[in-house]
Amino acid sequence: MTKKIFITGSEGFIGSHLLEKLVKKNYKVKALCLYNSFNTWGWLDTLDKEILQDVEIVTGDIRDKDLIVKNTKKMDYVINLAALIAIPYSYEAVESFIQTNIIGLNNVLSASLKNNCRVIHTSTSEVYGNADSFPIKEENKVFAKSPYAATKIAGDQLCFSYNRSFNLPITVIRPFNTFGPRQSLRAIIPTIITQALLNNGVIKLGNIYPKRNFNYIKDIVHGFDKALNLKKNYGDVINIGGNFEISIKDLVNLVSKIIDKEIIVKTDKYRYRPKKGEVNRLISSKTKSYKVLKWKPKYDNKKMFFQALTETVNWYSSNLKFYESKSKIYNI
Ligand SMILES: NC(=O)c1ccc[n+]([C@@H]2O[C@H](COP(=O)([O-])OP(=O)(O)OC[C@H]3O[C@@H](n4cnc5c(N)ncnc54)[C@H](O)[C@@H]3O)[C@@H](O)[C@H]2O)c1
Repeated sequence: MTKKIFITGSEGFIGSHLLEKLVKKNYKVKALCLYNSFNTWGWLDTLDKEILQDVEIVTGDIRDKDLIVKNTKKMDYVINLAALIAIPYSYEAVESFIQTNIIGLNNVLSASLKNNCRVIHTSTSEVYGNADSFPIKEENKVFAKSPYAATKIAGDQLCFSYNRSFNLPITVIRPFNTFGPRQSLRAIIPTIITQALLNNGVIKLGNIYPKRNFNYIKDIVHGFDKALNLKKNYGDVINIGGNFEISIKDLVNLVSKIIDKEIIVKTDKYRYRPKKGEVNRLISSKTKSYKVLKWKPKYDNKKMFFQALTETVNWYSSNLKFYESKSKIYNI
């Protein structure tokens, strides 16, 4: 029988790509978009009509318990992607992060328990802070370097506790840095690309020395899809990330090569994380994701990363209208 999935954060970057994939795989999708008075459904507004005709869209907020209980009725799975995600904004708005990423998540968990849904919750590699061993395994200790990371750690623990205390079937997925079309300017790759394209090669950045393992969105949604097939290992956490890593400085050079334009980096002190809050390196172990999910990232070497980055640059070049008005200011 067709499985029914409720996705929160469906109108966002990862959510919109995942929704497309799941519709194509014949899941029956109900998509939650954050309520707003402009009646916009984020990136869902831009999807093919053929995809959207098979999706039930509801607007609301994961902070509303009754709304989440109502909308998870008769669902087989709940995928929770809804979150406040911007680290710099988390310095300004700690309470909103707690409300959404912890209390909102609790609504998702208790509603799922009530309605017998299996849950996939989205954590983040940021929970590891500055790890003391690499590549980072799920057993590495967690250490919050930002209020964002702190709310994600709390959320993960809440998920594990719902499994241990109430037997809720739940999988916590920890994506490492993700990139691709439709990402917001809060992330480094869109920030570099859009500034370079719109400001004639002059870009403002913070610290360019941290290294990250960047994962193409196609690989990440494939990981979520694999997690839906799990029949055991509930209550577990699984990193979704590859081994290819690159510094922000080298990333700028690759973008410069793709757009065939010199990029001049100007340091902007507002874009630095606080000294004690910086995370210098994030690179994932693939052992557990392979063992448990049989997930293998495709874009996990320099050649494939370059291909994915080129596809991403091309998408931003054709879709600058979505970013133009915001590219000159620092979007926290
Ligand atoms: N993009 C990455 O590199 C990355 C890496 C690791 C983890 N994640 C996690 O993946 C998830 C999706 O992130 P994304 O990159 O797509 O970001 P995004 O900002 O594009 O998506 C987040 C979505 O959550 C929605 N949302 C926010 N508050 C809400 C609320 N109170 N109720 C309902 N919806 C709400 C937003 O409208 C948005 O569509 C997040 O949980 C994030 O922490 C992202």
